[in-house]
Amino acid sequence: MKPTFNAAITAVGGYVPATKLTNFDLEKMVDTNDEWIKSRTGISERSILKEPGKASSDMAVKAIEEIIRKKKLDPLSIDCIICATVTPDMIFPSTANLIGDKIGAKNAFGFDLGAACSGFLFALTTATAFIESGRYKKIIVVGVDKMSSIIDYTDRATCILFGDGAGAVLVEPTTDGLGVQDSILKSDGSGAPYLHIKAGGSLKPASMETVLAKEHYAFQDGQPVFKFAVKGMADVSAELMEKHHLTGDDIAWLVPHQANLRIIDATANRMGLSKEKVMINIEKYGNTTAATIPLCLWDWESKLKKGDNLILAAFGGGFTWGATWIKWAY
Ligand code: UT7
Repeated sequence: MKPTFNAAITAVGGYVPATKLTNFDLEKMVDTNDEWIKSRTGISERSILKEPGKASSDMAVKAIEEIIRKKKLDPLSIDCIICATVTPDMIFPSTANLIGDKIGAKNAFGFDLGAACSGFLFALTTATAFIESGRYKKIIVVGVDKMSSIIDYTDRATCILFGDGAGAVLVEPTTDGLGVQDSILKSDGSGAPYLHIKAGGSLKPASMETVLAKEHYAFQDGQPVFKFAVKGMADVSAELMEKHHLTGDDIAWLVPHQANLRIIDATANRMGLSKEKVMINIEKYGNTTAATIPLCLWDWESKLKKGDNLILAAFGGGFTWGATWIKWAY
């Protein structure tokens, strides 16, 4: 049965730390070069949260505070905070809880959602179901990652890729037919060996050995992930469009996860979209994991028009992947 109202994004906020780590900085740290990084990934620089004592929750708070300012939102009116992250402040309590406390959302419940680079789409789809059920009216979805906390800056295969940042949206009910139209989400745990953190979980708790073996850093076998990502992100976007009889002409914007420019290009081609319709900011932020999609919305917010059809698409560790169709609501 169709819900009587949709869930719509009604505001966007973002935050990236001021400290930049450029390709030229990385040239001095590992055996790499600007030309290789740019041509293989599209990345020139990324933001790094350097301040001691600051964590994912602090970046998320900055992004959410922008929404509170813009919408004159009373934090006490927030029903729920869903935080998509693979770099929580600590294993528990949830980062969403810590965020709620810091912004004074005393009436909100919150939880973290782990779906790596697809985390924002999984969280947005969860928020959509909560709103469509009629149970909640104001949900903050925030995608945040302090990737620098889990990156080995002696491993050139990963340290060139990732950056830190946060992007948040406010999700509210609407009766005008706009907002989130549909989502297709997928997971395949057999992809775990290609992208994971070996230790620090219940399988291999932290020990002197795990630290010395650098097993608390993100490990990625890039080539297989690349192959799965190109196919997964393009397939699921095409599946969502075919399901709703959408063509490239119907789509105003593709909002892709920013892992690699070549993966983004392959997805856009498959969808029949020209480059002007694709949000790309990987050059300045790198891969901020759960934050890439909301940071695109943040950067492009002023260009978006009410009624625009957006396809949000992601692929990430897990494997997890998915696509969401939104009619922009403001
Ligand atoms: O967001 C989560 C999902 N993650 C992704 O979607 C990432 C998917 N994977 C990728 O984006 C790409 O696989 C990478 C960008 C990680 C790597 O690009 P690639 O074209 O797959 O390179 P490769 O791993 O096949 O390496 C090619 C060559 C190798 O040298 P040889 O064996 O050909 O001599 C590597 O050792 O490039 C070398 N290489 C580097 N050279 C300079 C690997 N890393 C670097 C580097 N700088 N940083």
